[in-house]
Amino acid sequence: QSVAVLGAPFSRGQKRGGVEHGPKVIRDAGLIDRLSGLDYSVHDFGDLNFRHLEKDEPYMDVKFPRNVGGANKMLSSAVILNVLLYLTYKTCLRLSSSSHSLAIGSVSGHAQQCPDLCLIWVDAHADVNTPMTSPSGNLHGQPVAFMLKELQDKMPDIPGFSWTKPFLSSRDLVYIGLRDVDPGEHHILKNLGIQYFTMRDIDRLGIQRVMEVTFDHLLSRKQRPIHLSFDIDAFDPSLAPATGTPVNGGLTYREGIYITEEIHNTGLLSVMDLVEVNPVLGANPEAVEATASLAVDVIASALGQTREGAHVSIVEIP
Ligand code: ARG
Ligand code: MN
Ligand code: MN
Repeated sequence: QSVAVLGAPFSRGQKRGGVEHGPKVIRDAGLIDRLSGLDYSVHDFGDLNFRHLEKDEPYMDVKFPRNVGGANKMLSSAVILNVLLYLTYKTCLRLSSSSHSLAIGSVSGHAQQCPDLCLIWVDAHADVNTPMTSPSGNLHGQPVAFMLKELQDKMPDIPGFSWTKPFLSSRDLVYIGLRDVDPGEHHILKNLGIQYFTMRDIDRLGIQRVMEVTFDHLLSRKQRPIHLSFDIDAFDPSLAPATGTPVNGGLTYREGIYITEEIHNTGLLSVMDLVEVNPVLGANPEAVEATASLAVDVIASALGQTREGAHVSIVEIP
């Protein structure tokens, strides 16, 4: 079995720079060795090289629309190619992008190859603001709005995004870990009847039940590919301090790992994004290291690392 790794260093989804270094620190934390250790043959495609456009006036309140749009377009093509490889060689695939604004390209590229995919979004935030509802104008708070068919007529024509159109139904999406939802986003979640689990829901139901209901919702009609978009800020800031928009009261280590273990156990994980690791925002090197190595743990667990250990049956116990 093999896995593709693709870095997408990019920071223009928000004002504060630094997330563009996310892929590097995750690699430095030992990602490739960990995956090889899980018996994958790892295809490391390196990092994409995004073109930076100097002249990129805001559109309404939306910051750097042409840069974000162009980077997404490039990532989308790269993901199409990767998924093609996957379909040809039965490669299990993952990629590590940096800003959550790049989920547009990642999920849309995946959807072009796998139109029946479903999306699990693990995040403190819903990232479903439209340019009209966004309090910040940051595109990392808006990627899901670009994907949802039901929001098509709520989305203006933003420069840089003419290449993409909505491809996902709101019933094919589940959120886990929400605890900072803007008023416009709450309206959208309720109005479209999107399945979501806030931290309060996790407190009430327990993470095990949350995952059961998630798979019931997404997979009971049919088995289909899963896209996992994992924002490191879903974790509690005590575990993942090096990130741009931390919110107290997040996932414990065990809840986070349980989520990815269960997703692995479905056998349906097809593409994964791990986003928003920002080394520049760590208070010290230890904070950055902790965040990056947490990211590696999450990825390894999504790809089959278990807490009970594993053995290869041909190896004799000494
Ligand atoms: N909801 C806020 C906004 O729209 C914060 C979004 C944070 N998103 C993220 N990917 N970290 O700006
Ligand atoms: Mn977030
Ligand atoms: Mn996010």
